[in-house]
Amino acid sequence: MERRYFIRNTILTASAIAYLKANAIAALTDSRGLKDYFKNDFFVGTAIGTRTLLQNDREMLDLIANEFNAITTENALKWGSVHPAENEWNFDVPDKFVEFGKKNNMFIQGHVLVWHSQVPRNLFVDEGGKQISKDALLKRMENHISTLVDRYKGKINSWDVVNESITPEDGFRKSKWLEIIGPEFMKRAFHLAHEADPDAHLIYNDYGMDNSKRRDFVVDLVNKYKKQGVPIHGIGMQGHFNLDSPNSKAIEDSIEAFGSTGMRVHFTELDVDVLPHDWRRTSEVSKNIEYSKSLNPYVDGLPKDINDKLTKRYEEIFKLFLKHRDKIDRVTFWGTSDDRSWKNNFPVRGRTNYPLLFDRDHKPKDAYFAVAGLKQL
Ligand code: GLA
Repeated sequence: MERRYFIRNTILTASAIAYLKANAIAALTDSRGLKDYFKNDFFVGTAIGTRTLLQNDREMLDLIANEFNAITTENALKWGSVHPAENEWNFDVPDKFVEFGKKNNMFIQGHVLVWHSQVPRNLFVDEGGKQISKDALLKRMENHISTLVDRYKGKINSWDVVNESITPEDGFRKSKWLEIIGPEFMKRAFHLAHEADPDAHLIYNDYGMDNSKRRDFVVDLVNKYKKQGVPIHGIGMQGHFNLDSPNSKAIEDSIEAFGSTGMRVHFTELDVDVLPHDWRRTSEVSKNIEYSKSLNPYVDGLPKDINDKLTKRYEEIFKLFLKHRDKIDRVTFWGTSDDRSWKNNFPVRGRTNYPLLFDRDHKPKDAYFAVAGLKQL
């Protein structure tokens, strides 16, 4: 990226400073990125899409290398992608991911070892379609975790060992993992990952971690695990936020609660959805074009008031992160630029969303400058 020396080492008048502050904090920067501004606070990361790695998209990869010092794969290390059948492994994209991270001296996050979603269709059944036994599933899990963690031992710094296995309603999510193995599937997964790479940092990751029921369940579980010697080191709060929920207090309560167990806190999938919610979900809505248009109001650009709200929301969230920097190891965005965010297709397909710090031309947004500005001024 081109260096911008601008006015460094130049004496500025007060009005010039005011002008610059108001217009672009960027003018005060050189080629530093988010990773540099927050270098004494926490890692700042991004998730990289499969296509970016496969096509060796230089423009995006250079932007990522300049701005971030932590990376996660968006999909390439999920069970269904990396290990789609018992004896089939797709290491090509994960290898490229690790190579990129190593070359740029980054914190490399493996996502994810055990999850109920994005797994091969026949993971839980035998050839005849019959549900497999507890022992058989434990063997599949062992083979998967040992092979994957061992391959990237000493390279992937940290793993999301288990993803989304706790719900506020049920405690442990009613997944096939729970049904076939029982709740100990989680403990087993952590032990297996630790055996394969004793130096890897091991995380439990989930969404809605600001929810008090989920928070309490996780805190109890972690305390039990610690007594039992289960190798768990961190809690991942995904951080798929909206403009006005969850509130900062709930996020803060969870950071404090998880921190008090001795776990390191990671924000693992941060983004801020600016679009109207559709609580009735996709299928119904896709049939109703008019209604779906009302759910997609910013096709031609984000109105100033919503952009200001987004900017303020990011500023507020990062202020909170800085306040708790002693507990937080990493803040990772779920993607880099708005055009490639999953939020354009979830929970309604084909919308125009603005959840990240870089716009559709991959230029930093006002929210970027607000976040960076917390460290620059
Ligand atoms: C969850 C998963 C991520 C990703 C997002 C949506 O948060 O942990 O891997 O699939 O959903 O993209």
